[in-house]
Amino acid sequence: MSLPSSDQTKQPDGLTTMQLGAVLPKTAQVKDGHLFIGGVDMVELAHEQGTALYVFDEEDLRSRMEAYRESFHSRYANSEALYASKAFLNKEVLRIAQEEGMCLDVSGGGELACARAVGFPMERVFVHGNNKTPQELREAIEAGVGRIVVDSRIELARVSKIAGELGVEQPILMRITPGVEADTHEYIKTGCEDSKFGFTMLDDFAFKCVGDALAAPHVKLVGFHCHIGSQIFALHSFREAVEVMIKFAARVKETYGLEITDLDMGGGLGIAYTVDDKPSSIDEFAECTTSAVKDCCARYGVAEPRLLVEPGRSLVANAGVTLYTVGILKTLPNIRKYVAIDGGMSDNIRTALYHADYEAVIANKADQPRTEIVTLCGKHCESGDAVVLDGSIQHPEIGDTVCVFGTGAYCYTMSSTYNGQPRPAIVFVRDGKARVVTRRETYADLMARDL
Ligand code: LLP
Repeated sequence: MSLPSSDQTKQPDGLTTMQLGAVLPKTAQVKDGHLFIGGVDMVELAHEQGTALYVFDEEDLRSRMEAYRESFHSRYANSEALYASKAFLNKEVLRIAQEEGMCLDVSGGGELACARAVGFPMERVFVHGNNKTPQELREAIEAGVGRIVVDSRIELARVSKIAGELGVEQPILMRITPGVEADTHEYIKTGCEDSKFGFTMLDDFAFKCVGDALAAPHVKLVGFHCHIGSQIFALHSFREAVEVMIKFAARVKETYGLEITDLDMGGGLGIAYTVDDKPSSIDEFAECTTSAVKDCCARYGVAEPRLLVEPGRSLVANAGVTLYTVGILKTLPNIRKYVAIDGGMSDNIRTALYHADYEAVIANKADQPRTEIVTLCGKHCESGDAVVLDGSIQHPEIGDTVCVFGTGAYCYTMSSTYNGQPRPAIVFVRDGKARVVTRRETYADLMARDL
């Protein structure tokens, strides 16, 4: 795969770092020409820890968790925010999520194992996935997870059987595909009708399956879940999904006599990857969702359920940045200028996969305007390996420290060791201190499982 051709007419935006606005982590500052996050000099940190390096602004992370908690609780007391750990997973982020009063969304045995390793309260864990293996289901039920989000009729039978064998009654939600087209990238839309996730509403299938769930032994159906997609800017999609779900709950109440106690509206709130992105705030998202639930419950005669949301990206994306060192510069006349960094598609596959956009600066020239358009390419044996396509940046030189913003979500968790590239370390910064929370992978780690 090669890169889309470069737009030779694109002009650099001339912005300096602090003009990048919502893309920056909360504590970003520029001092003496260097970028600081959490009071730590990113240039010094890159020299000390080596690059590529993932860095997280702990204050930013905690303040977004608090924003979810407060903006939902203040409007709708019976609500919980679940951290969708697929966005960024290591032990430290789970400890912080627990301290900040979040529940947790895990989507497989590995994420669950990490939650257990840090002593995350199992009753606050929700288990997702369209094909959880029988082994994963057993681990989850044995661990005493709060909810299993059942994705299909086959899985319903599996959960029922395993819970029976373990002698427990497992609370479940049914994941419904609400048929709402969210305004986002094709690959990360999930609520529309052609989806591998959830019980389809076509031919009233989901509705009929509610009967199966109610009849199944050893499970207790307590509510419904939906997730319409990710990186969504248009809040009306969430409002439409709420309406579909509450209408569904009303029919369920009328026909089956079940009054749901949980309504889980999934994740999906978009964030600013570029200066041009104008996402809704957590507060606006909370206002939209809670008011839609209240309205629809009143309209359709359903008691207000516990409301759950499952943010991933909007908690961690802007808290995280990736630092790299410039190694090679190549200018191809009338084609593009390549700036090669010491990472790439192994630590950030999103550009190659979705043509995602990112903003970048040179951390040791952070006070200078971005005067050039370049392609930040990686070091992998693949032409499509780039992190920023045609992006504005300060004049690059070999040895510069590049900082790419907004990389806190779906970069580390989707990382690989392609070309034998050890995965970067993860550093949390706060109050002038940096602490390594996940060490860099070593060559020995790369071979550790080989016999
Ligand atoms: N709940 C469920 C059931 C999900 O499937 C997801 C994301 C979330 C919550 C969290 O959604 P968020 O708030 O992060 O949008 N790899 C893609 C994103 C895939 C999202 C998968 N599901 C990317 O890099 O953009």
